[in-house]
Amino acid sequence: MIQMELFDTKARSEKQHIVNVASVPQRSPFRYAGGKIWLIPRIRQWLLKYGGSDKELIEPFTGGGIVSLTAAFEDLVPQVIMVEKDEGVAAVWRIILEGNAKWLADSIENFNLTRENARKAIEAADQSLESLAFATIIKNRVNRGGILADGASFIKQGENGKGITSRWYPKTLQKRILAIAKMNHKINFIQGDGFEIIEQNFHRKNAIYFIDPPYIKAGRRLYRYSMVNHEALFELAGKLQGNFLMSYENTQEARDLASRYKFAMKSVSMKNTHHAQKKELLIARDLAWLSE
Ligand SMILES: C[S@@+](CC[C@H](N)C(=O)[O-])C[C@H]1O[C@@H](n2cnc3c(N)ncnc32)[C@H](O)[C@@H]1O
Repeated sequence: MIQMELFDTKARSEKQHIVNVASVPQRSPFRYAGGKIWLIPRIRQWLLKYGGSDKELIEPFTGGGIVSLTAAFEDLVPQVIMVEKDEGVAAVWRIILEGNAKWLADSIENFNLTRENARKAIEAADQSLESLAFATIIKNRVNRGGILADGASFIKQGENGKGITSRWYPKTLQKRILAIAKMNHKINFIQGDGFEIIEQNFHRKNAIYFIDPPYIKAGRRLYRYSMVNHEALFELAGKLQGNFLMSYENTQEARDLASRYKFAMKSVSMKNTHHAQKKELLIARDLAWLSE
């Protein structure tokens, strides 16, 4: 069981919510820096309020994609658009969703993970979209913290001294990849710039947006593309005809932007007995659903 605490930043009122973490399946093939699996109980609430059979979810900064996957698997919306700029991450989504999932799943199953083989797979990334997708999966499993930014280093000791194989679960990855492929009729993946896709859709009343850009400061060491014009993103969010939910690190800068654009904001934190507390600032036009 997970204990969720909500802090209303203004009133500093405190509420306690009990959320069963077992009801949040990990469906992503990635372990993603800044991944929002822990926020899924709240995102489900948002989707239950603003999703529905006539809506399309757009996720302009997809990363590990747990929000889009949850929405598609749990039928919270009939269609999702996932957008990601990182070529390696995009290659994984494209291979899974555009017909080559079985190849990726089999390659993972047949791979003998050693430091040497990992290095070779990563070096071969430029040979094809398939090899880039495979190299990205390997990097995500053998790099410390799953970090995919250039210059990230291999796990040293890892869990229980298992070193490089401590995050290598080939059967699990294979299952997740094949399950996502079965959802490909619901998921449209676009390799590109999240801003452009938001701009192309901003007039749509039936589009809703989960916006989780790289953190304003800490994003730099985590992602290849970490520089985002946050001011422009808030301005764009203000123009959206459909509903949106943004997720930010709870910094003064993010709070100032939210106030300037007259959005509601709430700091959400979650703690369980084994892991460090995670905190995030949720921003939207209306957050009344969050404390319902
Ligand atoms: C905080 S992460 C998203 C994490 C995701 N919500 C999850 O749960 O895994 C932000 C992502 O935005 C991507 N990104 C950065 N700039 C982008 C852009 N202009 N367009 C699309 N994606 C971008 C990064 O590569 C990174 O994967």
